Amino acid sequence: MYILAPLVLGIVSAVLAALIDISDKVLNNYGTCKINVNNGDKELSVKGGSPLLLTLAEQKIFVPSACGGKGTCGACKLQMPNNTDPVLPTELPFFNKEELANKTRLACQVKVKKDIDIAIPEELFNVQKLESTVSSIVDVTYDIKEVRLSISENLNSFKPGQYMQFETPKYKHNKKTFDTTFRAYSLASSRGSKNELEFLIRLVPGGVVTTYTHEYLKVDQAINVIGPFGDFYVRDTKNTMICVAGGSGMAPFRCIFRTMLEQNTFTEREIWYFFGAKAIRDMYYMSWLYDLEKKYKNFHFVPALSEPQPEDNWNGPVGLITEVLDKYLKKDIDRTNTLEGYLCGSPGMLDACMAVMGKNDMKEENIFFDKFA
Ligand SMILES: Cc1cc2nc3c(=O)[nH]c(=O)nc-3n(C[C@H](O)[C@H](O)[C@H](O)COP(=O)(O)OP(=O)(O)OC[C@H]3O[C@@H](n4cnc5c(N)ncnc54)[C@H](O)[C@@H]3O)c2cc1C
Ligand code: FES
Repeated sequence: MYILAPLVLGIVSAVLAALIDISDKVLNNYGTCKINVNNGDKELSVKGGSPLLLTLAEQKIFVPSACGGKGTCGACKLQMPNNTDPVLPTELPFFNKEELANKTRLACQVKVKKDIDIAIPEELFNVQKLESTVSSIVDVTYDIKEVRLSISENLNSFKPGQYMQFETPKYKHNKKTFDTTFRAYSLASSRGSKNELEFLIRLVPGGVVTTYTHEYLKVDQAINVIGPFGDFYVRDTKNTMICVAGGSGMAPFRCIFRTMLEQNTFTEREIWYFFGAKAIRDMYYMSWLYDLEKKYKNFHFVPALSEPQPEDNWNGPVGLITEVLDKYLKKDIDRTNTLEGYLCGSPGMLDACMAVMGKNDMKEENIFFDKFA
């Protein structure tokens, strides 16, 4: 009796698993579905059953995604005219009234089960999936790596400040298996760097893609990157730029400053660059930034430490970057010219900085940001 019980249980579980598998195949067999893109510009015949985001990627149409399809970034918005299916509760927090009225959905949350119509911006047809080889990996701090990729095919064009998606392969870490996925990383290399792309990747403990990048990615390894994406880029005005970053939020500014230098536009406007860190060990590229400040009168670099250590011998501004920003906006920055805000880093830091900018009469429509979450 006691010997038979586990055997019977095993058989029952195996039969149940087989039944689930069969019912999944029968119930979730949506056959071939048609996707009508931009009112007939393109018609795709696809196998139904997968999220729209992945289905489109298989057709080489890459919708922006920063979270790898987890439904947490809201980047994969697209319109589905004629859609009558209800928006899922997971999607609702990402939409305003107008987007809901325009039938906006998150491509990663919609499963392709029937013929559908979608509307996407033309520029997404220019997004490329590039095969690359890791050319160098350098520790710029204890938790940020500068990763350079050499690409055989040039990245057509991008706006400095935009990001690419890193695609990591399936891997095992601490006995857990992680499927292939992707995340957003801002380009740090200049627009003129045709054969090499640079990224700054900060380790998020337990994070799927950053653990892979920090522990397993090796020089000479092949890796795919997809892009460019994003609406964080420098607006074409003569306004004073108030740039604020922390951690790997340095990346898009490195790309922006390098490109402006390359295109001889760096001196055309006042640029203030605030960089917040806890202690000296979190600071990097300092000599490059101090050199820029020495060389260009219009460039002001303000690094600040919130928890300087005795051994840091720090004589610069101390405090949260929000406090330092507030002080400079009130006292040091010429307010006769319109101020334009550019922010990059953790959501908490960005929200606090935006509040400070608002209190100092900077207009919301002149503030642009990329939240790294
Ligand atoms: C437009 C955009 C550009 C970005 N550019 C960069 C860049 O240039 N450099 C860079 O390092 N990162 C950048 N990020 C963040 C990056 O896309 C990933 O979210 C981050 O690297 C974590 O990925 P992961 O797979 O390791 O962690 P995940 O497996 O996604 O997350 C693991 C856990 O950590 C939490 N988490 C996720 N991200 C963070 C974070 N940043 N800090 C703290 N906790 C977090 C998650 O909520 C989750 O609980 C960017 C994000 C966006 C939206
Ligand atoms: S890909 Fe991030 S929410 Fe859809």
